[in-house]
Amino acid sequence: MSFDLVFFGGTGDLTWRKLMPALFQAFRHGKLPAGGRILAVARDERTDEEYRQFIRERFSEVDSSKRPSDEEFDRFAALLHYRRMDLSQPTDYAGLKQWLDDRGADTAVLYLATSPHLFPAICEQLGAAGLNHDKVRVVLEKPLGHDLASAQEINRVVRSVFTEQQAFRIDHYLGKPSVQNLMALRFANALFEPLWRRESIANIQITLAESLGVGTRGDFYDRTGALRDMIQNHALQLLTMIAMEPPSTNDADAIRDEKLKVLKSLKPFTAESVTRDVVRGQYRAGNVDGKSVPGYLEEVKVPADSRCETFVALRTEVQNWRWAGVPFYLRTGKRLGARDAQIVVNFRPVPHPIFPSAGHANKLVIKLQPEDGLELHLLAAKGAGQGDALSPVRLDLDFDKAFPTDRVGAYERLLLDAIAGRLNLFVRSDEQEQAWRWVEPILDAWENSGSDLKTYAAGSWGPAAASALVARDGNAWAEEQ
Ligand code: BG6
Repeated sequence: MSFDLVFFGGTGDLTWRKLMPALFQAFRHGKLPAGGRILAVARDERTDEEYRQFIRERFSEVDSSKRPSDEEFDRFAALLHYRRMDLSQPTDYAGLKQWLDDRGADTAVLYLATSPHLFPAICEQLGAAGLNHDKVRVVLEKPLGHDLASAQEINRVVRSVFTEQQAFRIDHYLGKPSVQNLMALRFANALFEPLWRRESIANIQITLAESLGVGTRGDFYDRTGALRDMIQNHALQLLTMIAMEPPSTNDADAIRDEKLKVLKSLKPFTAESVTRDVVRGQYRAGNVDGKSVPGYLEEVKVPADSRCETFVALRTEVQNWRWAGVPFYLRTGKRLGARDAQIVVNFRPVPHPIFPSAGHANKLVIKLQPEDGLELHLLAAKGAGQGDALSPVRLDLDFDKAFPTDRVGAYERLLLDAIAGRLNLFVRSDEQEQAWRWVEPILDAWENSGSDLKTYAAGSWGPAAASALVARDGNAWAEEQ
């Protein structure tokens, strides 16, 4: 299958930091279909050779284990092309169409790696130039909108030009190997599904913790905040994968229909429940990995009086028969104690304990970061001389060890899926809008009350109020158990 992959924003950070390295890995793993061309478009004048040199230099900043040798890079670079484009000029789109038509590849994937405020205008121009025919797919990178109205407006324009089947909305968390394994764990194994419900599960915790601060992205981040940056998309997508009903097939729409139902079943927030069930925080100076780091207000391009949240913890419920009454706790933050993304499923204790240590309940930990894995926490008898005492033990599955040669990164997986036309791991417009609908009352309550922005020391696990939120139900975050 021949393909053309076009990156709008071809010299931008996302392209050289994430997308090109991911494509290179796909190339190195022999997974990139033969007969492909990769075209970067951007505003300035460059030749193909100059663009290849630009990417070669950027690759030297990438993780050394992933860095190509000169010979490997040269083979990859032969796929790279560059075209100058002024995104406001219809003639430049016509020129792009000509470039694509001249070869007539089976598929053209147009990846919008530009600032999202340009998406509607670019889509309209693509439509006007006839670059929306049925061989074209468009990939849209987050953030898709700032609130419900802006997300709806982007989707309205995208839908007026492309069909839903042509629109690939990226949430890179869905490309993480552990997230795909969650589908396999639940729907390819008979073991867990009968227990996957309120009768056996006490609570579920989703933590997306980062030890990094906002770095050089202060201006973007300050307009965004943790709720929009991580909860509205990544955390809610993970929640849908955990809570969804088994889809009837493994097709994109069967899966996305089920995920949408979960989003629609989330308990809606009111101004009052936001005060009770949502904690927002901002990091102050502290210590991370033995180094002292500045507070959020001291970061570059952050206003000194900013009230932007860098941490959110919240409690919600999925209001349906399967999950009624089970708390779902979501938490994310910058400058926390560790880079650690995981989902913890806490099971209920045994109904009638006959061993002294039976207070420990089973727990399944789905680890997304820093490594991918699964841990099942059980109780076991240690051996002779221990009496009836049981000890907690862990069954540990490390996916890197289980499948050492087949691991692919999130962007690599998603780019290959977009080229192959597989929509399963992309977000449909109605899911995305429903997620905005659910977070909006939180944004409104914060704007109206201006209340309760807590601070936390960099390197900690967030404000004390986040622990209190969970303790109120008699529970504790994983690291406090
Ligand atoms: C992005 C957010 O979507 O995800 C960033 O905009 C965040 O702020 C990043 O750092 C986290 O992704 P990952 O894969 O490093 O956990």
